[in-house]
Amino acid sequence: MIAIYPGSFDPITLGHVDIIERSCRLFERIIVAVLRNPNKTPMFTVPQRLDQIRLSTRHLPNLEVDSFDGLTVNYARMRQGGVLIRGLRAISDFEAELQMAHTNKTLSTEIETVFLATSNEYSFLSSSLVKEIAKFGGSIDHLVPPHVAIDIYRCQAKTHPT
Ligand code: PNS
Repeated sequence: MIAIYPGSFDPITLGHVDIIERSCRLFERIIVAVLRNPNKTPMFTVPQRLDQIRLSTRHLPNLEVDSFDGLTVNYARMRQGGVLIRGLRAISDFEAELQMAHTNKTLSTEIETVFLATSNEYSFLSSSLVKEIAKFGGSIDHLVPPHVAIDIYRCQAKTHPT
């Protein structure tokens, strides 16, 4: 079974890596799919995010990294993916995630959403939080893969040179 893990991944965090690693043990093939979203102003371009994800997941043989636009279910269908993976951190995620899963079900009855509970140590972690900490000069080394931390510090240095 092919499973798609869709998201913004701006940037990938250790929480995402944890979900990806665990998904790779559950499914034959995982495709991490970065949404090309014209409505958002991201910190990193899609090609940068693809590189960051590829570097963070080099150790996983049954994984592919790709980007897509439009509806996630259409992309999943195109890639013959039968499952969408989403991580659930806390009850606060649940409402929006359930709405998304139900919406996707109305668009495609054959694609299932599978929720993986985020590991305890990452239950607070989000890409937005990482960006906020970095913006105010805090350390994000414990929250993202090392090469992503370097990219974020570089990006901050460019935007706010000292
Ligand atoms: O990492 P994110 O930002 O929480 O990911 C959200 C994502 C990309 C999975 C979601 O916004 C999405 O699937 N967008 C594509 C458009 C779509 O399919 N919309 C219908 C489902 S609500």
